Amino acid sequence: MPIAPDAVASAYDRWAPSYDSVMNRTRDLDAEVLRTQGPEVRGLRVLELGGGSGKNTVWLAARATSVLSLDLSLQMQAVARERVASLDVPADRVTFALHDLRERWPVEDASVHVVVGNLVLEHVASLEAVFAEAARVLTPGGTVWVSELHPERQRLGGQAHFEDDDTGELVHVPAFRHTVSEYVNAAIGAGLRVRRLGEWLEDGADPMAPPRLFTMRAKR
Ligand SMILES: C[S@@+](CC[C@H](N)C(=O)[O-])C[C@H]1O[C@@H](n2cnc3c(N)ncnc32)[C@H](O)[C@@H]1O
Repeated sequence: MPIAPDAVASAYDRWAPSYDSVMNRTRDLDAEVLRTQGPEVRGLRVLELGGGSGKNTVWLAARATSVLSLDLSLQMQAVARERVASLDVPADRVTFALHDLRERWPVEDASVHVVVGNLVLEHVASLEAVFAEAARVLTPGGTVWVSELHPERQRLGGQAHFEDDDTGELVHVPAFRHTVSEYVNAAIGAGLRVRRLGEWLEDGADPMAPPRLFTMRAKR
């Protein structure tokens, strides 16, 4: 069923005040996996999809030549702006744009070296459109890296959710289930070369539990 265009934005606007402070194993594992397994970004131009409150933006900003962080939630991005402002990096290194990834990205063809998307594609129905845009904006040889809630977790009912601080309401953010083959085929369909898949579970978790995160690296 189609979701209202602003339902995701308004959910994240409500989540923004508590997103970084409440326990969230998926968020924390994602940070660790990007930092240890993610693409090389040093000295490169990076586009971040759904940068949210800046958990990964700050790490990218400390390494990349430039970072453009797109998100459709004003409140999530406001947190990220504050975080980045306190970094000791040139002020023009990070640019934020309030932008819906389902629309054409505000980026020139073949102009970024790395596209990074973390915990965002569950909110986007068409992976084909996302990878087509990634292929358009990447320089030849550029890398797209995505890290998402593992499809097996999604199949078992996993979905981004939070408790609203003000009302106590448990809010499930509208989400789409994507399979591993959907990710891979969307990348291949966009003319990208899939280079590596990963499946990740946090230290200390039941080893029989399904992986928490799925990652994919592909090259233009
Ligand atoms: C779970 S948060 C992840 C934020 C950040 N990448 C991280 O790993 O901490 C998902 C983010 O994706 C953003 N988002 C969801 N759908 C989007 C869309 N269609 N266009 C742009 N941003 C979107 C949300 O507003 C939210 O900030």
